[in-house]
Amino acid sequence: MDAKNIKDTYGNKSSVDQIRERFDREVGRFAELNTGQQSTMDAPLVMDLMARAALSSSPKAHKILDIGCGAGNHSLKLRMLSQIDLDITLVDLSQPMLDMAFQRLSEINHGNISLWQGDFRHFSAESEAYDIVLAAAVFHHLRDDNDWLSTFQKVFDLLASGGSIWISDLVTHDCQPVQNLMWERYAEYLIQLGGIGYQKHVFEYIDLEDSPRSLNYQIDLLRSVGFGTIEVLHKNCCFAAFGAVKP
Ligand SMILES: C[S@@+](CC[C@H](N)C(=O)[O-])C[C@H]1O[C@@H](n2cnc3c(N)ncnc32)[C@H](O)[C@@H]1O
Repeated sequence: MDAKNIKDTYGNKSSVDQIRERFDREVGRFAELNTGQQSTMDAPLVMDLMARAALSSSPKAHKILDIGCGAGNHSLKLRMLSQIDLDITLVDLSQPMLDMAFQRLSEINHGNISLWQGDFRHFSAESEAYDIVLAAAVFHHLRDDNDWLSTFQKVFDLLASGGSIWISDLVTHDCQPVQNLMWERYAEYLIQLGGIGYQKHVFEYIDLEDSPRSLNYQIDLLRSVGFGTIEVLHKNCCFAAFGAVKP
């Protein structure tokens, strides 16, 4: 895609500041551990699978990076299933989200919890600083191919050998008829959950804010930046959970 088309494709999407402002107002919706974020299909199952896969794939893990942590659900789940206290770095655009995540996590975790407020594209730390990276419902805010590539390269660099990344997200499909089918199924799911008005609201903010990529695209990218073992944990409709281990 050339520069003009990239601008045309992403120029109408929300800015980082607009995305932050929306999430600043939505902390409560992301602070329910039993249901997870309900507009995401199978959220509780995916939280459980990601935490278990992370802990079993990287069994010596104690340094965790949670990108786009929201109110901390995924880190909380991980800590509840781990036998030990963890050192956790929480990264999010939204300070109210970080404050809520810190409050909830510090009740059960006595390891170090550090907060970093900002766009994860600007986050930096020492190479190989982390054993597990979690990125739930956040990478769909990445835009062009360079954005995706540099983010995946950064995550690879931040992980220690044997460390792993676990991603859950909204995904697209490479085959357009399948994409249409999945989008219709997702609309039906949202209508059942909250009615037609809710479905329209969710589709409107997806259209405004999100630029998801397919599962195939992300798996290829994980491989291209150096990850060895790649696993798909779950896929239902336009939501997928998957991960990769650094050799
Ligand atoms: C849909 S929520 C998911 C929260 C949490 N991971 C969960 O699954 O419950 C996305 C979160 O990512 C954060 N976020 C979005 N874009 C971001 C960016 N560029 N850098 C850091 N955080 C970002 C938002 O502020 C929000 O808290």
